[in-house]
Amino acid sequence: MALREIRLEGDPVLTKECRPVKAITERQKILIEDMLETMYDADGVGLAAPQVGVLRRICVVDVGDEHGPYILINPKIISKEGEQTGQEGCLSVPGKAGTVTRPMKVTVEAQDLDMNVQTYEGEGLLARAFCHEIDHLDGHMYTEIAEGPLYEVGPEEEDEDSEENVANEENGDAL
Ligand code: NI
Repeated sequence: MALREIRLEGDPVLTKECRPVKAITERQKILIEDMLETMYDADGVGLAAPQVGVLRRICVVDVGDEHGPYILINPKIISKEGEQTGQEGCLSVPGKAGTVTRPMKVTVEAQDLDMNVQTYEGEGLLARAFCHEIDHLDGHMYTEIAEGPLYEVGPEEEDEDSEENVANEENGDAL
């Protein structure tokens, strides 16, 4: 496994629509392992393939729930319910966050590593992460839909006796 370079806002690769995955090759398995490693290394809770420069419909999400990492291949949202307005960040926009309204619950259909179709329900942060990552696959960033200006978040305030979960909140759960 290897860390991949995270592309930053302004890189044209983040504005392009990704192509569907037709089969999982060895190369794509390595890509997915690298995406997970890169996401964890950056303390993110989600990462989409275009964020590492690959225009394929693949994303990974891990919000620390009992499911562990979700590996979503060709994902689509098949239903949404409710609304939540809250902080959202992105590993491609480091040190910043914005206020974004998303559905409170979503149902996602995606293929797994064996190309079997799976259905996942997400609520709260998980729903937010699914929406954010699937937007990346269509070339969209949360900054396009943020309400009001982005604001600074970052690890600078972490070091006085804060616990890990507080630090994560300050980092804005980057996706
Ligand atoms: Ni993102």
